[in-house]
Amino acid sequence: MEICYPYIVDHTEPGTIPYQFEYGLMKTRNILVTGGAGFIGSHVVRLLVNKYPGYRIINLDKLTYAGNLENLRDIEDKPNYVFVKADICDFATVLKIMQDYDVDGVIHLAAESHVDRSIVDPFTFARTNVLGTLSLLQAAKACWLDNHSVISSEVEKSSSSYRRFYHISTDEVYGALEMTHPEGIKPPFTTKASSGEHHLAYGEEFFTEDMKYQPHSPYSAAKASSDHFVRAFHDTYGLPTVITNCSNNYGPYQFPEKLIPLFINNIRNRKPLPVYGKGENVRDWLYVEDHARAIDLIFHEGKDGETYNIGGFNEWKNIDVIKALIRITDRLLGRREGEDDNLITFVTDRAGHDLRYAIDSRKLQRELGWEPSLQFEEGLEKTVRWYLDNEPWMRRVTSGEYEKYYEKMYGNR
Ligand code: NAD
Ligand code: TYD
Repeated sequence: MEICYPYIVDHTEPGTIPYQFEYGLMKTRNILVTGGAGFIGSHVVRLLVNKYPGYRIINLDKLTYAGNLENLRDIEDKPNYVFVKADICDFATVLKIMQDYDVDGVIHLAAESHVDRSIVDPFTFARTNVLGTLSLLQAAKACWLDNHSVISSEVEKSSSSYRRFYHISTDEVYGALEMTHPEGIKPPFTTKASSGEHHLAYGEEFFTEDMKYQPHSPYSAAKASSDHFVRAFHDTYGLPTVITNCSNNYGPYQFPEKLIPLFINNIRNRKPLPVYGKGENVRDWLYVEDHARAIDLIFHEGKDGETYNIGGFNEWKNIDVIKALIRITDRLLGRREGEDDNLITFVTDRAGHDLRYAIDSRKLQRELGWEPSLQFEEGLEKTVRWYLDNEPWMRRVTSGEYEKYYEKMYGNR
């Protein structure tokens, strides 16, 4: 579904006249995207900046090790894009940015996102993911709800219905599912992207929106807590919120601490591939641009106070993903397919390693018509090709601190 909004570009500087233009009851938007320099955030910013020239997209990012403005080089000069370096935990700054830019929508992605790091340093995860989210919620409440004098006219009142705090969360808050069919069975639900022999379901149960939260890692515990705060602000203060819980993403610009970019880089450089445990854990993979499309759709069309799961019915055991990656990377590098299978190295398992994630995204399909667009092997091939073609990007993000990180995480494993 293509959504079209009337737009008019206005280059007014922040702090003078609010950057907005009313068009009947329609209004252009000032959207604050947090974490826009990260993996998923950069795809969301790119999509919004290109698709809505009349919106102003304000990217707020602290630029931690995971944030990289190089991810947005192609859109950084667009007139409807602004970057602000800030920490979401700094309430005073967040509030000022929201006021200065007259923000009417927040798409909140900023987070510490890597499970292995959360096991080593849970405090940082609680700070950013919980307190950072709370700081944004408080700022949105102060701007949108506490100062009622800003809603002065009928037109303003109706335009206030455009306000939305959209919190991006993860399927990991639901905990882990059992593997009742370790050999794999055809899934009971199919989507356009879920045909083909690898699209197997490994259990009968799927994560649904009404499932109990049972996070296991410090990462997912912190994300779960932030989800609860978002719901509390909706239920207590009437803040217009929406939450989505998405499965594992893959694609260009992902920091190479996560399985897929890490392994592509190691295959290329013929370094060992550290497979946790037996490689039997199952993840449900979604191409990052499909996630960004879903975020755009839900931001505009989702219902206030609702939760939507996002996923592709695309369950794979880690070891099968890894073998597919080796095959594709070898082929694209002109090596014999499977030549690098000997790099597979089974290492000590991750503590508390969740066995299986599998998202049921039928609500999103049914209510808003979204479904994934790519077959996994097609998406993997695009992804491998991107990392191989963007070797300088990979070299820059894996220099310096990355080597220390790698030694700490994998040195004694
Ligand atoms: P990422 O680690 O690649 O990027 C996180 C971004 O947040 C970085 O740009 C970083 O600089 C920024 N950031 C971190 N702390 C900050 C702070 N205190 N203030 C401001 N900015 C800060 O993460 P990602 O993989 O793109 O994930 C984005 C969001 O999506 C997260 O909320 C994550 O929980 C969620 N999510 C991720 C996945 C996945 O597979 N990657 C799946 C489902 C949900
Ligand atoms: P990851 O990309 O870290 O995502 P998440 O933990 O959020 O699912 O890991 C995906 C799967 O790959 C997970 O089951 C852990 C496993 N894994 C390895 O086997 N080796 C590795 O070096 C990494 C980073 C992950």
